Amino acid sequence: MSSLPPLLSSEPSSTLSSVIKGPALLPIIQADTPHEAVAIAKALADGGVGSVEVVLRTRQALAAITAIRTALPDLLVGAGTVLSATDANACKAAGAQFLVSPASTAKLLEAMLASGLPFVPGVATPSEIAMAQEYGLREVKFFPAHLSGGIEMLKALSGVFQQMKFCPTGGIGQHNLAEFLALPNVFVAGGSWLTPASMVQTQQWSQITALAAAATAIARQIKTAA
Ligand code: 3PG
Repeated sequence: MSSLPPLLSSEPSSTLSSVIKGPALLPIIQADTPHEAVAIAKALADGGVGSVEVVLRTRQALAAITAIRTALPDLLVGAGTVLSATDANACKAAGAQFLVSPASTAKLLEAMLASGLPFVPGVATPSEIAMAQEYGLREVKFFPAHLSGGIEMLKALSGVFQQMKFCPTGGIGQHNLAEFLALPNVFVAGGSWLTPASMVQTQQWSQITALAAAATAIARQIKTAA
C-alpha cells in the first residue's frame, strides 16, 4: 500500500511557547486606534506582560500591530482572530510575530503554516485537535475554554493527546487563572480580562497595569513552580 503524500511541504516553524515573552499570559488588545493600542500595550507591559495579541476586530487592528511593534520593541506582538489566508498575510506584513485563530480548517491551517510564523489555531473538540496533530502542530488554542468544558475538558484531553499543549481562552479571569495555568498541558492563558472595554474607554491605564501585575504574579508563581 502506498503511503499518503505529506499534507504540506512546509513544516511548522517555531512554536508559540518557544517565542513567548514574559509570564504565561496572552492578553487581548482590541483597539479603535493605533494610539489607543499603544496605550493599552504600555499599560500591560508596565504590569509585567511580555506578549500581547491584537485582535482583528477593529478597522485599525493592522495599524495597531505596527504601532505597538514600533513603540514597544521589547514586547512580543501577535495577531488574533485570524480567519483567512488574507488575514494571515496582512498580519505578517503589519509586523505580527505570531498568529492566533479561533478556528481550525484545512485552508486556515495551510495559510498559517505558509506564513512561516508561529501560530495556534482554535480547537474545541478531539477531532479538531487530531487535525492539528496531522498538520504537525503541538500547540493549539482551546476556545471558548470555559464553554467547551474548561479545566475538566483539558484534563480529559491530556490523557488522549499527550503531546498537545493548549492556550485556553474564553472565560478566563483572575478567579480561575491559577487553576488553568496549573494544568501541565496549558502553556499560556489568553483573554480579555486584563483589558476591559470599560477601562479602555475611560483610559484607566493604571488600572490595567494593576490587573496585569496581579495576573503576572499568579502566572510567575505557578509556571515557575511547575
Ligand atoms: C478570544 O478572542 O480569544 C476570546 O473572545 C476571549 O474571551 P474572553 O473575552 O472571555 O477572555
